[in-house]
Amino acid sequence: IHLLLMDLKSLIRDVPDFPKPGIVFRDITTLLRDPDGLKHAIDSFTQKFFHAGINADYIVGMESRGFIFGPPLAYQMGAGFIPVRKPGKLPSAVYCIEYELEYGTDCLEIHQDALHPGSKVLIVDDLIATGGTANATARLVKKSGCDVVGFGFIIELQNFQGRKNLPNVPIITLVEYL
Ligand code: PRP
Ligand code: MG
Repeated sequence: IHLLLMDLKSLIRDVPDFPKPGIVFRDITTLLRDPDGLKHAIDSFTQKFFHAGINADYIVGMESRGFIFGPPLAYQMGAGFIPVRKPGKLPSAVYCIEYELEYGTDCLEIHQDALHPGSKVLIVDDLIATGGTANATARLVKKSGCDVVGFGFIIELQNFQGRKNLPNVPIITLVEYL
């Protein structure tokens, strides 16, 4: 199948009323299980960064679904992968950033010694909605003394205008929903 001709959106399942009534959940498990779809998603993701001239020393991916797409992109780019995790999961010393959820706050953590200061970092997740998760991750990268050179998301939910919450660097997306 030609890379540009494949319709990734058709492989993403829409699940109505999950996790709450009125919400349509964009389910990537149906994309991941499809061998051609998985290959196409990773390859075209990689190509888009290449064509945008974005190069990074490290990919930072957020738990949980950023762990699915971050490492294959890092592998293809010849970069390292660094996990950002939910609280209490990382064993060594961490930096922690609090961020707003719909109800209350949560925090994300990164190992203090994971990023070499001055490195170029690309932040990757499966999806951007409000941008809260990606914004918190960018702050962790800056706290580590590094520069965010771009963001990558398989899915962008454009209604939430998450881009407004991100620093002014290139943002690569594969599938957009209103
Ligand atoms: C989802 C998704 C993104 C985040 C996007 O993760 O995987 O990480 O929400 O939302 P935002 O742009 O409004 O911050 P979730 O917190 O549901 O956890 P998971 O990845 O562990 O499933
Ligand atoms: Mg997530």
